[in-house]
Amino acid sequence: MKSIENLQWRYATKKFDNYKTLSTDQLETLVQAFNLTATSYGLQPCRLIVVQNQEVKDAMVEKAYGQRQVADASAVLVLCTKNVDVDYVNEYFELVKKIRNTPDEVLKPFKNQLTQSFSQKQQDEVDQWSKNQAYISLGNLMTVCAQERIDSCPMEGFLPDQIDELLGLKKQGLKSVLLLPVGYRAQDDMFSKMEKVRRPQQEMVQYV
Ligand SMILES: Cc1cc2nc3c(=O)[nH]c(=O)nc-3n(C[C@H](O)[C@H](O)[C@H](O)COP(=O)(O)O)c2cc1C
Repeated sequence: MKSIENLQWRYATKKFDNYKTLSTDQLETLVQAFNLTATSYGLQPCRLIVVQNQEVKDAMVEKAYGQRQVADASAVLVLCTKNVDVDYVNEYFELVKKIRNTPDEVLKPFKNQLTQSFSQKQQDEVDQWSKNQAYISLGNLMTVCAQERIDSCPMEGFLPDQIDELLGLKKQGLKSVLLLPVGYRAQDDMFSKMEKVRRPQQEMVQYV
């Protein structure tokens, strides 16, 4: 039941306590959770930017339609996508070889299949696939936050181009997809006291 208790505890925090900060260890746990997230083919087409600088967080507010969470949270995790091309796929296989010592002839069929597949994909398709991976990281991070009793607010409500410009992401080949402010809920955040709104479980799930 602990998992359910944790998921009941979490909520999309609307007001953070701007006096409370997460420790380096807490942030490190989130960073590791991000990097341990499973991704399609293991290609990890995402990157994480951890924003703690107050001036930068303040500047994010207007780019997030005035949502104050980004300024008041201890840190804002910016989930980004990185473009995946054939070179990137090749690099991945070099990494597998280095870490697992897997012989080339074992890797070759999978490597050929992936490089062929990515060279044939339209850019839109690759972008959508990469974004899907960022959402898996978001889910994983939110769950780990709940386990660690760290408050968070998943956010799609922001202007990605402007956030990219603020953080200098374009020149690194990155695009922001999601924000996750993390920290501690303010005692007077009225949303923390509200009942969860969810459809009845029997409507949502079928057993076959
Ligand atoms: C992908 C995604 C994007 C969201 N974007 C925002 C947002 O921009 N601002 C916000 O206050 N909440 C945002 N939310 C929070 C949802 O409104 C919230 O998770 C939902 O109402 C369920 O409530 P709960 O998370 O408190 O249980 C987002 C949630 C998700 C999963």
